[in-house]
Amino acid sequence: PIGLIDGKLIDLSENIVPMEDRGHQFGDGVYEVTRVYNGYCFALKQHIDRLYRSLRELKIPAVYTTEELTGFHELLIKESGITDGAVYLQITRGVAPRAHGFPDSVVPRLTMSIRPMSSVPDKNKLEGAKALLIPDERWLRCDIKSLNLLGNVLGKQKAKEAGCFEGVQVRDEYVTEGTSSNFFVVKDDVVWTHPDCNLILKGVTRTLLIEKLAPAAGVLVVEKKFNTAFVKAADEAFLSGTTTEITPLVIIDGKPVGNGAVGPITRKLQEAYWALID
Ligand code: PDD
Repeated sequence: PIGLIDGKLIDLSENIVPMEDRGHQFGDGVYEVTRVYNGYCFALKQHIDRLYRSLRELKIPAVYTTEELTGFHELLIKESGITDGAVYLQITRGVAPRAHGFPDSVVPRLTMSIRPMSSVPDKNKLEGAKALLIPDERWLRCDIKSLNLLGNVLGKQKAKEAGCFEGVQVRDEYVTEGTSSNFFVVKDDVVWTHPDCNLILKGVTRTLLIEKLAPAAGVLVVEKKFNTAFVKAADEAFLSGTTTEITPLVIIDGKPVGNGAVGPITRKLQEAYWALID
């Protein structure tokens, strides 16, 4: 398996990330995950734009151009020969003796890797998955795609231990998002999702769904908060994300969503997504 450090090709088995990288010691950095379909990165521009936003919010200098970052993605695809997979990219504040405050002059460090991932839909995508409602225990800047994922990691594990594919997080009665995906419900033919704010990640897939897939399919989406009672009364529910694509949810907290089958609106949006990546 191969990767890149500051644009240079490496083998992932090489131990070359320094001890005092601030990503390693503080989670002081940001990341992106981009899908590769048929040898091309999907929605790469949108991922790179969000990466720059995350960097700005954390005051990490952007030392690579969009063209360079695009080139690194293409290089990984070419060198690995992987046509269907995912590229992981992270930028940390850099390497410096451990102290909480920002070091005076430090160069951000870019690391990237590519792994194969099947683009053939799995059982969860085809037949629907189970989700568990869990408390949202994360910080108040979930809009930044930061390396600090402990809340997400613990939430996903809780869901996994309950036999579920995803944990759907609830903050102050309102449903925010999955641990690595955005969350939607359908009620009376209207799609609902949490508004874009500091409490959720503005997913690239979510934006695509709201701005392109739903309007083209004649489906109305509202960005409004809703509580767990609303979820329990929903006709359909689904997740969106780079790796999740659009995954229907048929069971939430052990109870069927709607009639317990994949809903027609969910399926329509899912098929529109697949048509786009094909
Ligand atoms: N996760 N919300 C959270 C908390 C996420 O971590 C993700 C993505 C999303 C969906 O965003 P997008 O559509 O841009 O992938 C929403 C990535 C895939 C991950 O951590 O692996």
